[in-house]
Amino acid sequence: MDKIKINKEYQKKIKDLIKLNKYYYELSKPLVEDQEYDQIKSEIFSLEKKYNFLKSEDSPSKKVGYRPSKTFKKVFHKVSMLSLSNAFSEEDLINFEKKIINFLDKDSSFEIEYSAEPKIDGISASLTYQKGKFIMGLSRGDGKEGEDITQNLKTINDIPKEILIKDFPTDIDIRGEVFIGNKDFEKIKDKFANPRNAASGSLRQKNPNDTKKIPLKFIAYTFGHEKGMKVKKQNEYLQRLTEWGFKTNPLNKTLKGVQNLMNNYYEIEKKRNEIDFDIDGIVYKINDFDLQKRLGNVANSPRWAIAHKFSANKGISKILNIDIQVGRTGALTPVAKINPLNIGGVVVSNATLHNEDEIIRKDIRINDTVVVERAGDVIPHVVSVDVKKRKKESKKFFFPKKCPCGYETIKEYNKITKKFDAVRRCPDRGFDCDRMAKERLKHFVSKEGFNIDGFGKKIVENFWDLKLVRLPQDIFNLNYKKIESLDGWGKQSVLNLKYAIDDKKNISFERFIYSLGIRHIGFENAKLIAKTLKSSESFVNLSKDDKFDDLLNIDGIGETQINSIKNFFKNKTNLNIINNLQKILNIKKAIENKKGGILSNKTFMLTGKLNGISRAEAKSLIEKNSGSIISNVSKKLDYLIIGEKPTNRKIEAAKELNIKIINQSEWLRLINKTG
Ligand code: IVH
Repeated sequence: MDKIKINKEYQKKIKDLIKLNKYYYELSKPLVEDQEYDQIKSEIFSLEKKYNFLKSEDSPSKKVGYRPSKTFKKVFHKVSMLSLSNAFSEEDLINFEKKIINFLDKDSSFEIEYSAEPKIDGISASLTYQKGKFIMGLSRGDGKEGEDITQNLKTINDIPKEILIKDFPTDIDIRGEVFIGNKDFEKIKDKFANPRNAASGSLRQKNPNDTKKIPLKFIAYTFGHEKGMKVKKQNEYLQRLTEWGFKTNPLNKTLKGVQNLMNNYYEIEKKRNEIDFDIDGIVYKINDFDLQKRLGNVANSPRWAIAHKFSANKGISKILNIDIQVGRTGALTPVAKINPLNIGGVVVSNATLHNEDEIIRKDIRINDTVVVERAGDVIPHVVSVDVKKRKKESKKFFFPKKCPCGYETIKEYNKITKKFDAVRRCPDRGFDCDRMAKERLKHFVSKEGFNIDGFGKKIVENFWDLKLVRLPQDIFNLNYKKIESLDGWGKQSVLNLKYAIDDKKNISFERFIYSLGIRHIGFENAKLIAKTLKSSESFVNLSKDDKFDDLLNIDGIGETQINSIKNFFKNKTNLNIINNLQKILNIKKAIENKKGGILSNKTFMLTGKLNGISRAEAKSLIEKNSGSIISNVSKKLDYLIIGEKPTNRKIEAAKELNIKIINQSEWLRLINKTG
């Protein structure tokens, strides 16, 4: 079949679905039986899976529920709605607590008080109250900008429309979760995949009368922008919420110490099935608002909170075979091909075995019966083997010492842990290993990289097999004539592809860095580096002038990342790629959005230990006030801050250059703080 025909068939199905949706949701007059509806939906999914050129904004894969977001006005949140980082084990919690203690420069005996709140799996919403009146309600959206769903939220009984209590702040965004109770979901479960979908679908109805038909609930747990709130702790805030007329989670607790968090976690996990709403973990928040403020945020999530996820759903299956996958960074990952099984609504047929040591430790063999776990978005993995069910045909797996590309693999020595890595790697020889090269190209075009429309993983595979691409720059020098003659391609689709590729020749510096696929440099790190170095020229100069240590100034970049960048530049192919790309692309300089804080344009350097505040926090305080930190005493330095036991050499150098030398309290006075 040719592409046009397939697309026509696909668009027709989408159109049919839109019509069915309209009759079902808007007019409440279903045209077909549910099975038929589901059938069309799954046909659309399988077409999209098979042909990745198929695209439609109206595809059910693009949206939860029915209403397109266009129908709601978009409004910026005054304070962004953040997400939470996840913890899965006691160890993760211990690390979370350690990081906080280090950041706050407390000693290890410092007891942190937490508000432990069961994490409801619903849809978050932000409700603006001014002078006690509910005036606007927004969905989370992308965290920065939400949809105005005020009218729909007004239909929810748990949301007070007017609050006449004296201490209710004059201006506040109350935030919480909209959800549907499990019993209520029972009544409508044929129409939605799960309670969360039902809540989302209902909230996004165009007609509030339709929202009203599905009994939604609201539980409040935090706030965004506020004026006039005199509360100092999260548990106090939760208490106040109930006085103001909001519902809060009856299972919220105030706790201290990881051991108590763990006990509470197990207790609530046991009760999970008895509760009338879905919870998928426990959120821990530092109780004290002053400490929360000091801790601030990293990227999109606060340093002061974490979501401790419940262990996911498990299932039993059989290992049919073990494959070796090679990742972008050369890591060889053993993947078990298993008898497909349904875990929590998702069909799982692959499960990771992590690495060689794991296979040995768990004694995993081909044909074994195993327990497979799937936790949230994390890749399913094999938890354990049921040795009692082991049969004669079970076969030991010998981990290959060679990469499928033919190279000998290595286990790296970790200087910090003084141990060899558990992971076996194909050494980075630029793009010599075809497996790695393919993965690196996929990374190059990925969403946070070049994100070329219509040029996804499958096209990379396809073009690789046809020898159309080997290195990133090949993407910009494609043989379009050849592509046009390929099965499934035509004049128009090639034109579209060319347009999409040319469009991405203008690229931001941060995307450029990310797309290079340097180990340990994910999108957040790429952003940090771009912000500091500003242009791709200075990025290249890092290696020319051996100025890698400059990167140590960046909060979040450490030795591991710097070593990895150094290694990257050591490789000739990598240098050649950057060189070529610089010629082809217009890499936009990173623009700093200076907020004009008190320390604007001022540079600082720290020497010695500060009192009651960690280096990380000092750095974050300086940056919050628009100042920056540098690591060398040079003419560029404005202030040298000295703590206990400073390095004398630095002080001498600063004196020589007439740089202002200040102590901790003088520095804190500069930012209007007392210390
Ligand atoms: S606090 C920065 N508290 O979890 C603080 N969130 O991944 C973030 N959630 O979008 C919100 N129960 O939908 C908070 N007690 C609770 C919560 C909770 C559920 C959801 C919420 C948010 C997501 C964060």
